[in-house]
Amino acid sequence: MKLTMDQLVHFDTEGWLLLENRFSQAEMDVLKDELPRIFAMRREEVWREKDGEAVRTAFAAHTYNEAFNRLGRHPRLIKPVMQLLDGPVYMHQYKINGKAAFNGDVWQWHQDYGTWARDDLMPQPRAMNIALFLDEVTEFNGPLYLIPRSHKQGVIEAGHDTATTSYPLWTLDKERIRELANEGGIVAPKGEPGSVLMFHSNMVHASAPNISPWDRVIVYLSLCHVDNHIRQFKRPEWIAHRDFAPIEPLADDCLLAP
Ligand code: SIN
Ligand code: MN
Repeated sequence: MKLTMDQLVHFDTEGWLLLENRFSQAEMDVLKDELPRIFAMRREEVWREKDGEAVRTAFAAHTYNEAFNRLGRHPRLIKPVMQLLDGPVYMHQYKINGKAAFNGDVWQWHQDYGTWARDDLMPQPRAMNIALFLDEVTEFNGPLYLIPRSHKQGVIEAGHDTATTSYPLWTLDKERIRELANEGGIVAPKGEPGSVLMFHSNMVHASAPNISPWDRVIVYLSLCHVDNHIRQFKRPEWIAHRDFAPIEPLADDCLLAP
């Protein structure tokens, strides 16, 4: 299903778009059934919170799990991004963020393209995230905070934070966040499992720790136009992929009828 003109305008002006209930409960069950197996893996792609137990991020799960591999080629995720980026896309990064009940740690304020430009030498912000909620995302379990219209600011000065959490990130300073949020406000898109959130790669975003008793698992596909592939291979291949072949979307029922 193509994004409508209203949706395209919303994405362009606000920098984000929530598509509610795009996947069925049966499709979510296929993915959720795989999580215990993935989260139990002690492999370098599976990063834990500072306690060494709760999973923060399972990187590149599409390379070692069949269901998540199919999700990485799902037409309901790939096609809207091809429409917005105007052409074929490859997978720059793929992650399942755990945000475990009582445990999921903060993500400090950042822009994803800030990291992709500085660490991976991605030429343009012609890349973006499309995220699928595997759990219901509420005001309690650490929803993403977005500063609407911040994607119009280009790449904002940032410092490399290697201390706050287990994952190094280029983060923005507090004064700049205050200015941007006083101007644009903050939104925290919420939705049922199966909802999809798209946001611009220069969108300033963060999330608070999850002190609720409910997990908040979200899968992020970071897709990049094939012409805009990264030029520097400093980070591990499973964090910043180097297969620039265009993704061929599968059939719409690929999760249920593989
Ligand atoms: C991210 O910004 O990459 C992740 C944020 C989150 O999952 O809360
Ligand atoms: Mn991010």
